[in-house]
Amino acid sequence: MNFQLRKIFTAALVCTSIAMFAAPASAAGDASAGENIFRKCAGCHKIGDNAKNATGPVLQGVVGRQAGTFPGFRYGKDMVAAGEAGLVWNEENLAEYLADPRAFLRAFLNDDHARAKMPFKLRDEQQRMDVAAYLATLQ
Ligand code: HEC
Repeated sequence: MNFQLRKIFTAALVCTSIAMFAAPASAAGDASAGENIFRKCAGCHKIGDNAKNATGPVLQGVVGRQAGTFPGFRYGKDMVAAGEAGLVWNEENLAEYLADPRAFLRAFLNDDHARAKMPFKLRDEQQRMDVAAYLATLQ
């Protein structure tokens, strides 16, 4: 390889590595890491095409779904109200909900008395984004 070509090649390589380093910071979450984190949820939430509601509603297809609408699940009234007020789950708001379901519903509904039926918080931000990315793959 002549010198000029080598310079171009090196520049291209450097650009690729920068892009590779930049990616995890801008991308929301890592779905494969999220699959492991989902074990924390699986005691209450089932996934799969024929999944049944348990302590929590089925989470298959939850990303893109209006909050509080999986058939047959008895949601809290404030979750139903949030869905009726326009809450549709996406990776960002789902990750935020997991940090503190009650605080999330109170802020969304602008109601200091709103209650959440989900008695679970996921404190680690990266884990929240990862599990949200995993749920987005379950369509
Ligand atoms: C101890 C049981 C329990 C655990 C553990 C739990 N959840 Fe929940 N989850 C619930 C219940 C109950 C609801 C219904 C909330 C309501 O009606 O206010 C719910 C609701 C949800 C919803 C809203 C679904 C919808 O149809 O609108 C999402 C999203 C969710 N949970 C995600 C998770 C994830 C992700 C985890 C794990 C990181 C998790 N949950 C862990 C019990 C649980």
